[in-house]
Amino acid sequence: MSLSDEARRNRAYWNRKSDEYQERHAEFIGRPEPRWGVWQIPESELSVLGDVAGRDVLELGCGAAQWSILLARQGARVVGLDNSERQLEHARQNMAKAGLDFPLVHASAEHVPLPDGGFDVVFCDHGAVAFVDPYKTVPEAARLLRPGGLLVAQCGGRGNIARFHAAAREVGAAEPYADHLVGWTGPWNFAGAEETAERLERAGFADVDTWLEPYPVTPDDPPAFVRAVCLRPHLERLPAELHDRFVEAVCSVSGSELDYVRLNIDARKPS
Ligand SMILES: C[S@@+](CC[C@H](N)C(=O)[O-])C[C@H]1O[C@@H](n2cnc3c(N)ncnc32)[C@H](O)[C@@H]1O
Repeated sequence: MSLSDEARRNRAYWNRKSDEYQERHAEFIGRPEPRWGVWQIPESELSVLGDVAGRDVLELGCGAAQWSILLARQGARVVGLDNSERQLEHARQNMAKAGLDFPLVHASAEHVPLPDGGFDVVFCDHGAVAFVDPYKTVPEAARLLRPGGLLVAQCGGRGNIARFHAAAREVGAAEPYADHLVGWTGPWNFAGAEETAERLERAGFADVDTWLEPYPVTPDDPPAFVRAVCLRPHLERLPAELHDRFVEAVCSVSGSELDYVRLNIDARKPS
């Protein structure tokens, strides 16, 4: 199956970053129970997935499968999908440590090589839905779900780090960065709640609930964090000798708080 340019770039990025990501966030993503998003709110409190025992569950962008392993322990028949082979190597190691074995699929969530209607739940916590064009993932999720099946996802929503991006644009508009950055709009697509709901309804979903939640975050080490996460696409366009100066300049304009906004998606395919 052919990969989009964005998915190819994203695959190369996650293959490169996987080891560091798994090490740096081991505690956060190695949670002892399923917990959602940056808030780490326990699924047992929110109950958005419901009882997964005996259900077919697909995780889009499973990374090292920490979420999938927890759901498999609850009796779900899980399939983990990820675009990065290195992330899936970590998933295999974690499954072996947990004494579990379930299918892992190496593919982009844009085109999932699985048959129609095989899942009761398709979910994503800061995985593929955060990186892929929703015009592709939403119809794919609708195709993969059985009638009555549930789609649950969380990703960046409209206004996500808008203040931070404005600071990066301001710095990037001046020399020596302008040649590399002016006119470039970046790979982001932070959808609003209403347009996402319309998209879901057009793809045939019902009981659609979408909402935005502002979640300002101050990382422990803002320059290191924004270099690794928020400014990564900018730095890929800049020569290496400009990286330190650019990160420092953007941080001094933006301040250390990042204005994250999360988009929550909860929708059901009609029975
Ligand atoms: C921030 S990581 C999160 C992984 C996991 N959900 C977790 O909580 O640790 C994002 C994951 O999405 C995957 N991803 C990005 N684009 C994807 C795509 N087009 N299809 C499938 N997975 C994708 C990456 O390879 C990476 O493993």
